[in-house]
Amino acid sequence: MMKRVFAANWKMNHGPAEAAEFVRHFVAGFAPASDRTVILFPSALALAVAREGLRARPEIKVGVQNIHWEDRGAFTGETSAPIARAAGADYVLVGHSERRHVFGETDEEAGKKVAAGIRAGLTPVLCVGETAGERERGETAAVVLRQLRSGLAQSGRTGVAACLVAYEPVWAIGTGKTATPRDAAEVHVAIRAELRALGGDGAVNVPILYGGSVNQENAATLLAADEVGGLLVGGASLDAGRWCAIART
Ligand code: 13P
Repeated sequence: MMKRVFAANWKMNHGPAEAAEFVRHFVAGFAPASDRTVILFPSALALAVAREGLRARPEIKVGVQNIHWEDRGAFTGETSAPIARAAGADYVLVGHSERRHVFGETDEEAGKKVAAGIRAGLTPVLCVGETAGERERGETAAVVLRQLRSGLAQSGRTGVAACLVAYEPVWAIGTGKTATPRDAAEVHVAIRAELRALGGDGAVNVPILYGGSVNQENAATLLAADEVGGLLVGGASLDAGRWCAIART
């Protein structure tokens, strides 16, 4: 049995004090469970505080929401993979739709970030997903698989096995609309086939997460869909009680 993955993307919410408070509540309410992996993605400036609050619960992991692809240098405002790793991050989100669509991040840049993350010992969570327009035009599979191939292009066959993938349809993020379990399964099955083609046997156990308006009401149904190995949650992960309920699914 593959471990289910529950990942909380706090986006630009929760400073250090709120992160500390959240973690206090979460560890009190969430019993250790060896059949699942839980990852919190706080703001980079709240990462150390979250990590510290989880000292007695090393099975709960933390990650950063973005990195630069270079290890160091004159890149004002950016965080490198080695710095994120040294600050306690285990994971990194790469190519989140907000990075792609608000900040103009390209497929190629996502590929460089995945490679940088792996080089530094971080586990990248490569995010892919189509916009509403692309879906209406019947381009879902083409867009998602293009993002997947580019995202993994610079990491080689072994790199494929070192990642997680998250399918987040852009039209489902923060909108209250979710993909139906059948639609999610269709895309997840296509992602799995492409992962196998790119990474061979090593890709069989790569978890493929679903994200986009996930909450405690729809979590179980989405997790029951074919090849849905976990959830990447935004809004509903900001409250420790709601997040506890989702992570227990
Ligand atoms: P919501 O759960 O708020 O729709 O956000 C999903 C997301 O973007 C997680 O990365």
